[in-house]
Amino acid sequence: PVATRVADLVGRMTLAEKVGQMMQLDSRDGVRQLIEDVHVGSILHTSPALVREAHEVTARTRLRIPLLVAEDCIHGHSFYEGATIFPTQLGMAASWDPELVERAARITAVEVAATGIHWTFSPVLCIARDLRWGRVSETFGEDPFLIGELASAMVRGYQGDGLTDPTAILATAKHFAGYSETQGGRDATEADISRRKLRAWFLPPFERVAREGCATFMLGYQSMDGTPITVNDWLLTDVLRGEWGYTGTLVTDWDNVGRMVWEQQIQPDYAHAAAAAVKAGNDVVMTTPQFFAGAQQAVADGLLDEAAIDAAVARILTLKFELGLFEEPRRPDAVRIAEVMGVAPHEEVNLELTRRSVVLLRNEGVLPLAGGCTAGPDERAVAPAGAERRRVLVVGPNADDTDAQLGDWAGRSGQVDWLPDGHPRHMIETVLDGLRTRAPEGWDVTHARGADILTLAPDPEGEFFPDGQPRPQVVVPCEPDEALIAEAVAAARESDYVVAVVGDRIELVGEGRSTATLELIGGQVALLDALAATGTPMVVVVVASKPHVLPESALQADAIVWAANPGMRGGQAIAEILLGLVEPSGRLPITFARHVGQQPTFYNQLRGQHGTRYADLTQRPAFAFGEGLSYTTVEYGDLEVLTPRLGVSDDVQARVTLRNTGSRPALETVQVYVSDLVTTTMWAESELKAYRQVVVEPGQTVVVDLELPVAACSIVDADARRVVEPGEFELRVGPSSVRESQLTARFVVAG
Ligand code: IFM
Repeated sequence: PVATRVADLVGRMTLAEKVGQMMQLDSRDGVRQLIEDVHVGSILHTSPALVREAHEVTARTRLRIPLLVAEDCIHGHSFYEGATIFPTQLGMAASWDPELVERAARITAVEVAATGIHWTFSPVLCIARDLRWGRVSETFGEDPFLIGELASAMVRGYQGDGLTDPTAILATAKHFAGYSETQGGRDATEADISRRKLRAWFLPPFERVAREGCATFMLGYQSMDGTPITVNDWLLTDVLRGEWGYTGTLVTDWDNVGRMVWEQQIQPDYAHAAAAAVKAGNDVVMTTPQFFAGAQQAVADGLLDEAAIDAAVARILTLKFELGLFEEPRRPDAVRIAEVMGVAPHEEVNLELTRRSVVLLRNEGVLPLAGGCTAGPDERAVAPAGAERRRVLVVGPNADDTDAQLGDWAGRSGQVDWLPDGHPRHMIETVLDGLRTRAPEGWDVTHARGADILTLAPDPEGEFFPDGQPRPQVVVPCEPDEALIAEAVAAARESDYVVAVVGDRIELVGEGRSTATLELIGGQVALLDALAATGTPMVVVVVASKPHVLPESALQADAIVWAANPGMRGGQAIAEILLGLVEPSGRLPITFARHVGQQPTFYNQLRGQHGTRYADLTQRPAFAFGEGLSYTTVEYGDLEVLTPRLGVSDDVQARVTLRNTGSRPALETVQVYVSDLVTTTMWAESELKAYRQVVVEPGQTVVVDLELPVAACSIVDADARRVVEPGEFELRVGPSSVRESQLTARFVVAG
């Protein structure tokens, strides 16, 4: 049995080997030294060549303990040229479809495993409430229930049928917990959240995947109640290991242990920091080279009992045995890579998920273009009679920007070029490509850039480089370029439609890359204003890492389409939707603000606060959680709770009727919110508790059965206990979180 093999091995390891086993280091620092000098147990940020070398060196070590190879493959295999790159998590979340998300994660696991990687740092379960945060695109949005559904699906996809399956990779629930609750949206600042608030909204998705067997958890950077999560005994020991019975492996975030010394200054040296981290239950210590000497010193000085190191090492070795690495370290396999990497069946699933991730936010009748085309014998759509010639101007900085389309963690980012040449250009279809290849024969698709977003300039904080060195160049928002705008306006005047593709750039996204503003920066607003003034019907397509504040010229445009960072097939999916070949079906997993100062705008705020307004601005968002349109109209009627009196262990059963009153099919996401009408402590006005996705054909009426456990209608009371409080509840069913769009019916839970 694994436990016997683990105990035997731990018993034969020296202290140095055990400490090294706990360390995870960057393979680009030289795998030979890492293995020979510090007996490193795990590497990250690597390549197949480095992995092969690492296994060769490991095979010559005294105990031949295989390495764990880890990577941030969070919406596809970020570091392998030609891998399938899906929409970012935020884009996936707009599909609201756990089954498709699970299939995407399965494909990622298959591609990742072929390259010798065993472990992905995904999914992200953070709740995105401050849109200024740089990592919004890595999240599933703002709602704990939706996050739990999709994260659970992603973990299932990565871990497949069990870790012995050679295509299974370890999933990581991150960043445990509350990392997104930053101050001012700035990354990794203090996130002082009360335990009640954590239990109410931030912990439930983590609890779900912990109980479902997510193999590893990563700890956030931030502190809570003055204690960094890395050493937060309450969260790690009482809650995660204790209450939830979690037996998986914990990994710190980047240098969390070192930061306690050099950044947070809560430990005097690395021996104390190492002792604190091990005692708190950390297993894998990411990129803190000083941990090697520090942990050994801590044992020598009596700060740390070696048994605590043994326990961590045992958990790591258990994972390695469970993965079967002692028998076969899962080397990168060139044949397998050729068989699976970016292959057509993977692209098919990617395309399906991408189509489902696109959200139509406004349509004054301009879409689908020309009233809707039909599929032709090849890629080209067929125009309806009378619309054989149309001129479409595709304009804007993100119409043909492959980096913005793929998003963060896709080989290239503003910080590091993992793949200097990016993914193969032919695998990526931008919006410009999509319309050029798919617009009907005879349509004229022209292109103008119209505006830029960023430019390079000397670092405005150059006073930090006073010793005569040239000031480093940094990216800053650029000014509108009048010549580019004039060219775009002239082309718009000659066109029947303008498709303006705007958003942000990769340099504005990611860890340490929060933005103070949410506006479309650079020349984009001036461009949209000028295009709107031409009077040519305009579709605004937003390809971006987060919900932006759209200017009036965009909010009043003839149509608005939001596509997060839609991945490799983004341009195809968007073009198909604009042309009417595919029905739009995405729903917002996150709220759009009207102004950066409205933060936060998430829908499930505490009663009595949401809806209050500023003296100079409404608090209504531009677009709310759950919103999204189809090319048809679906009417909701006859909501009925079949079980109006219930006990706490019962299920609420209800029924609603949908009627498609338009002429095109709809994939409707029926959203079920619950409002607990009187609570002993402050609670959200309503919360998403269930949803169902249903196809409704034109003219069809469908009765949809809805069900949710009464247990899901719980709140967290003043003592931070999750309880169902007997009394009256309101079921709110509709196409979004917007109250006016919902039908309501009541039920009573008896004490
Ligand atoms: O996995 C990431 C984490 O999300 C942020 N810091 C670095 C880690 C490893 O790349």
